[in-house]
Amino acid sequence: MAEPLLQVKSLKKYFPITGGIFSKTIGEVKAVDDLTFTVYKGETLGIVGESGCGKSTTGRMLLRLIEPTEGSIIFENQEITSLSKRELRKIRRDMQMVFQDPFASLNPRHTVEKILEEPLIVHGIGSKQERKKRVQEMLEVVGLGSYHAKRYPHQFSGGQRQRIGIARALMTQPKLIIADEPVSALDVSIQAQVLNLLEDLQKEFGLTYIFIAHDLGVVRHISDRVGVMYLGRMVELADSDALYKSPKHPYTKALLSAVPIPDPEYKQERQLLAGDLPSPANPPKGCAFHTRCGACMEICKTERPKLKEVEAGHYVACHLYE
Ligand SMILES: Nc1ncnc2c1ncn2[C@@H]1O[C@H](COP(=O)(O)OP(=O)(O)O)[C@@H](O)[C@H]1O
Ligand SMILES: [Mg+2]
Repeated sequence: MAEPLLQVKSLKKYFPITGGIFSKTIGEVKAVDDLTFTVYKGETLGIVGESGCGKSTTGRMLLRLIEPTEGSIIFENQEITSLSKRELRKIRRDMQMVFQDPFASLNPRHTVEKILEEPLIVHGIGSKQERKKRVQEMLEVVGLGSYHAKRYPHQFSGGQRQRIGIARALMTQPKLIIADEPVSALDVSIQAQVLNLLEDLQKEFGLTYIFIAHDLGVVRHISDRVGVMYLGRMVELADSDALYKSPKHPYTKALLSAVPIPDPEYKQERQLLAGDLPSPANPPKGCAFHTRCGACMEICKTERPKLKEVEAGHYVACHLYE
């Protein structure tokens, strides 16, 4: 087994809900609730779940763009949650994020050159000339021409803008890239190109990825392992092949039945998700999924199932497997 790069333990983020004239805290949105997982060097861990299940909050907490409420994040043997601002800045060279909407995340008034140079300036890397050279190189690496350096974000297509977003993330030569729905805003025809680029870059630079998506279709090809989130928790985590061939959690099965599987041996049962995602401000007791689960038993309404290893490397949080 490869070495761990990132270890997340019992990570939580509760956003306060305030109300009344004194803005008192009247409740909490449990956006991320007791998340534990490990990311190994060189792998791609896919994280999947419906909109609102806490994926972006998780990604941002790993970089401490959002402060965790509780829990531990260990990156290369360093506890991230207790780092000072200065120490944090150093470690952010090694962990970078690619966002869903490249247009919103690129400053429209800056040229591509300025956008790509910025992380180097922030981290005090290189002379002006070296920085310019690196910008040119990186543009080529992501499949754009160095002649694009003087242009502005609006002069590019969606796919090209995401290439710029990826180039920016790579400027500091990070070890870990957290890609938060990096292709969700792109045309289907462009998605494959950007996914291929990410795969090529991973090989070339030995990168480790956390790849966030809202459906299982997109992450299948790129992920070594996939974790499925529901209402701020991990409900299943397994090697990609195992997850897609024999999903265990009823929620994973439901998500999968929405994805066409090009595998004649896979018998697709149609399992539609009943009802809406409950509010994370008021999650159901017991198993959070029990209100929408076709296999719900009495115990599911009162006792929360723990994430347990039911086959080698295959974890599931469901009373059916206890
Ligand atoms: N800053 C915030 N304040 C309050 N609630 C938030 C905040 N950010 C996210 N949330 C809530 O946390 C939950 C998880 O959000 P998010 O992590 O964005 O989910 P996802 O990325 O899976 O769609 C949602 O219910 C969302 O409304
Ligand atoms: Mg999100």
